[in-house]
Formats: sequence, structure tokens, C-alpha cells
Amino acid sequence: MATKFQAPRGTFDVLPEQARSRRRLEAAAAEIFARAGYESIATPVFEGTDLFERGVGRSTDIVRKEMFTFEDKGGRSLTLRPEGTASICRAYLEHGMQKLAQPVKLSYLGPFFRHERPQAGRYRQFHQLGAECIGTDSPLADAEVITLLADLLEELGVPGVELRLGSLGSFEARRAYLEELKAHLRAHEGELSGDVRERIDINPLRAFDADDEGTQGVMASAPTIVERLEGEDAEHFAEVRGLLDAAGISYVVDPTLVRGLDYYTRTIFSFVCDQLGAQSEVGGGGRYDGLIEQLGGAPTPAVGFAAGIERILLALGETAAPSVGNKVFISTNYDEEMERAFALVSDLRHKGIPAELDLAGRGQKGQLKHANRIGAKFVLFLHGENAELRDMESGEQRQIDLANIADEMTGGSG
Ligand code: HAM
Repeated sequence: MATKFQAPRGTFDVLPEQARSRRRLEAAAAEIFARAGYESIATPVFEGTDLFERGVGRSTDIVRKEMFTFEDKGGRSLTLRPEGTASICRAYLEHGMQKLAQPVKLSYLGPFFRHERPQAGRYRQFHQLGAECIGTDSPLADAEVITLLADLLEELGVPGVELRLGSLGSFEARRAYLEELKAHLRAHEGELSGDVRERIDINPLRAFDADDEGTQGVMASAPTIVERLEGEDAEHFAEVRGLLDAAGISYVVDPTLVRGLDYYTRTIFSFVCDQLGAQSEVGGGGRYDGLIEQLGGAPTPAVGFAAGIERILLALGETAAPSVGNKVFISTNYDEEMERAFALVSDLRHKGIPAELDLAGRGQKGQLKHANRIGAKFVLFLHGENAELRDMESGEQRQIDLANIADEMTGGSG
């Protein structure tokens, strides 16, 4: 029996028309990052496993059950990166970036891997784009990274987006709060789901995310960290909100917002989209003032975000983007004009004009059909010294001077 090969579960191929919408998204992000001075960085797709255990946190679902971990031939444990922030902090330390002018502003885009149960918007290989601002605790940095993602979603026209904002306070404030929360959970242990009960000590915050009624009832009366913020933490959060207000970015404060990574302190945020089902978060992030120290560096405050490229495309309806506009198809008469047509196509491409010619030996009728299929705006017919350009939309056809073909196509010289 012949083997039928398929892409592995939770992965997908990006076919040409989807690649076009991706490129549009990536170009918009690159532009927004560049305008704000976020230089791009690329790190390996795998790292030593301990980086994520320490960075992302042993109590998280990601580290407990979702990592693609393997041993290399030298017996080292490696893991396909489940997220980008830990790797970027590793690179920041490894390359002595703390000696550069601070903050260091970085952006990235690439594949990430999590062994989750696949569903719409959730894959085992997915793509994120993100930005990290490392080396400042200014609320301006929080507001700046939030604005980058808000701008991107707006520019792409992602419908129904809501920004949810929360704060976890500093590590110390959070520790005190977590004790209070654990006490509340223990007092209502009988009403909690088994999963939440088992994790009261490991990760009590996740109880806010639970979907069973019992736990939800308990959480409705639970204290929230936002209510407990004081001093500099409260001030920082107020300043972030003030900056977003000043920039005209709307948000809702969500006191029960939690995120699936352990490194967050103070600001956390999440952009959700009502066009998506269960996996409604298109992107999110927050401040991680303790992570670099956790990885062996000096205490270095930082903040950033990552957005899921597939989720953004889904929210946009992943409409297949049209192919390059203004393309010209050069119709050849194989016997006589092939070399000339080929040289002309190369010349047009060098001038930046999208151009194609038939590579399959079609007759003239077949070539016209093909020109339509590839979305050519013009077809150029060569007959000896004569060149005629047909506008495929209007059907108008006229003789042109080949030397001016670029102008002819843009309507420049009439
Ligand atoms: P995260 O919330 O784990 O954060 O992931 C960011 C985004 O990646 C999510 O909002 C979602 O759009 C997308 N995403 C996550 N998992 C999947 C999946 N299995 N399939 C499809 N899309 C997915 C982080 O990764 C942090 N590193 C963000 C950050 C940067 N925080 C500070 N700096």
C-alpha cells in the first residue's frame, strides 16, 4: 500500500496565496517596528531546555506539558522554542547588550512550537511577531510596546479588537497577594475543580482562567491583585494607563487577567478579537523585570509582547491577497520571438516591473487565458518591430514604444 504523507498534526503548509497575506502582515509589522526603532533580532529555533525551564517557569503549562524536547547526539537536552522572550534575554546577556545605551529595543518574527491540542487558531508550529524593550522600567516603555501592537492591528484592519490591561505588581507585592489568594482558595477547596485544587500552591492565579462553574463561583469573590496594588506599583500602573489615554488607545482594566508565563511583573496585557472562537487572543505580553536576573544577569527591567500571526490572519478572514498588481504578460510567438521576449522579461524585472512569459509552450489563445489566470493587468504582443499593449480590464489595445513601456503601464505618457 502506498504511504500517504501528510504534514504532522498541528502543522500546516503556507501555500502561495496565503504567503501573500503573510507578507503583507510582515511588511506592515517591519515598518511599524522600524519607525519606532525596534531593530530586528533572530535567535535559533532550539535552545538548551533549561533556558525555558528557568525562563518561562516550571509551573507553567508550557514547560510542564507543551515543549518539544529532544536529546542531541552529544546527550544535551534541547527544546524547540515555545516563545521568544527567554531566548532574547539569553542573547542580550550573551552579547553584552547591557553595555549598550539602554533600553535595547528589539523585534522578531518566526516559528514557535508548543505541543498543544490542535484546534482553530492553535497549532503545534505557529508564528509570532514580537518586540522587547530591555533596560528600562519607565511606564513609557510599557505604553510604547502596547502602542506598537495596537497600531499594527489597526493598520491591518483587524476587526473587533479589545485591549485588556492588568498589573501583577512587583514580585514582593505579588508574593503577599498570592498568599492571600491561596488562603481564599483553601477556604473554598471543596468547590474547586480537581485541577485547580492540585495547583493551589504551584499556580493559584490560573484559577481565574478556569472554566468550571464551581471554581468560577469561588473566583467571583476572590481578591484581585489590581485591588491590592500600592505605592510604586500602583503609580506605575496609573502612569501606563495615563499614557495610553493620552495616545487615544482604548482598553479595559481586567483585574482577573492572567498569562501563561511565570516571568511577568507589573503590567500585563492581552489583545482579544471577537471574530475568533476559543483562541481569541491575537497577542499579548507584559513587563518581566525579574527575568534577566533569573537567567544570571544583573537586575534589568524589561517589557514586550508577541502576537500570533495565524490568529491575526484568521481574524482578518485570511482573505487571499491578490497577486502583484500591474503585472505584464508577454505573449510570445515561440518560433521567432522567444529570445527577444525572454530578454524583455528580464529587462522589465530588472526595472522593477512584475513580468512573466509563457513557459509551457501554449498557443496564443492559451497564453491569453493564462495571462488572465495569473492576474496580469497587461498583455504585451510582440510582432517584429511592433509592440502592442492590451489592458486586460478595459480590453483596449494600442501600439506602444517599447522604450516607454513602464510609463505606458502606469498611464504616464498616455
Ligand atoms: P503568549 O501569550 O504565550 O506570550 O503568546 C503570544 C501569542 O502567540 C498569543 O497571543 C497567540 O496569539 C500566539 N500563540 C500562542 N500559542 C499559540 C499556538 N499554539 N498556536 C497559535 N498561536 C499561538 C508569549 O509568547 C510571550 N513571549 C509574549 C511576550 C513577549 N511577553 C513579553 N514579551
